[in-house]
Amino acid sequence: MKAKLTILCENSVGVPFGVIGEHGFACYLETEKGNYLFDTGQGYAIAQNAAALKKDLADIEAVMLSHGHYDHTGGLPAVLQLKGPVDVYGHPDIFVERMWSSEGIKRYVGIPYKRSYLESLGANFRLGTDLAEIGPGVYLTGQIPRDSTFEKGDQKMIAFGSGGESIQPDPILDDLSLIVDTDQGLIIVLGCAHAGMINIIEHTLKKMNKDRIHAIIGGTHLGFSSEEQFNATLDVIDRYRIERIGVSHCTGPARAATLFARMPDRFFFGNVGAVLEV
Ligand SMILES: [Fe+2]
Ligand SMILES: [Fe+2]
Repeated sequence: MKAKLTILCENSVGVPFGVIGEHGFACYLETEKGNYLFDTGQGYAIAQNAAALKKDLADIEAVMLSHGHYDHTGGLPAVLQLKGPVDVYGHPDIFVERMWSSEGIKRYVGIPYKRSYLESLGANFRLGTDLAEIGPGVYLTGQIPRDSTFEKGDQKMIAFGSGGESIQPDPILDDLSLIVDTDQGLIIVLGCAHAGMINIIEHTLKKMNKDRIHAIIGGTHLGFSSEEQFNATLDVIDRYRIERIGVSHCTGPARAATLFARMPDRFFFGNVGAVLEV
């Protein structure tokens, strides 16, 4: 299968005309069998950037959500207003209430809209925890087992249980990634990789019964990783012969620069307008 992935929302822009950056992520996937949207950004950029990049948000088979954070789900109303009724795939925990707390500042970082409101705009939520085939060659990973010991949660993230009890760090069990099975091999699209990039890669290879990954794009969360985790991730990129790596969002400029220096032939900046085509 051929596939074309275009980054619609990201912290910075890589094309000169008509697009804006915002902290967040969204990626448009085109295949011979249909188009898909993975994440929606915060909501300020998605409609404008899609129009500028000539990606039709009304022409999608489904929306997939990597997790419930506002910077991946906040654009849902804008998408639903353009698309109308559509299946929206994700993990049941996307609706968990969650906060970010650091140095006395607290911010709500969960999904900014009620499920009933999104349903009134046409969202047909299809939530699950297992690997799901969304369309031909298009999969969501399902919940990722947290096997690696050094990919730790973020202490600044707090979740609230159904009884209001707080859980710190928020395990963000809803963190899912998109898998595209192409002629060149698997492509993994990360939202924020809260589950840990190594965990995500290992789980994907096991579930898809493959031994290599062609490309990884999206938010790696390596901007928040220890040296140990970062170096182990570099080893994994080599071990699975990953040929293209286009990092975005929560990778941060320092880690992205290090990746670029280490693997200039394979690396690209996954900012708004970046395209991976196989
Ligand atoms: Fe996140
Ligand atoms: Fe994020």
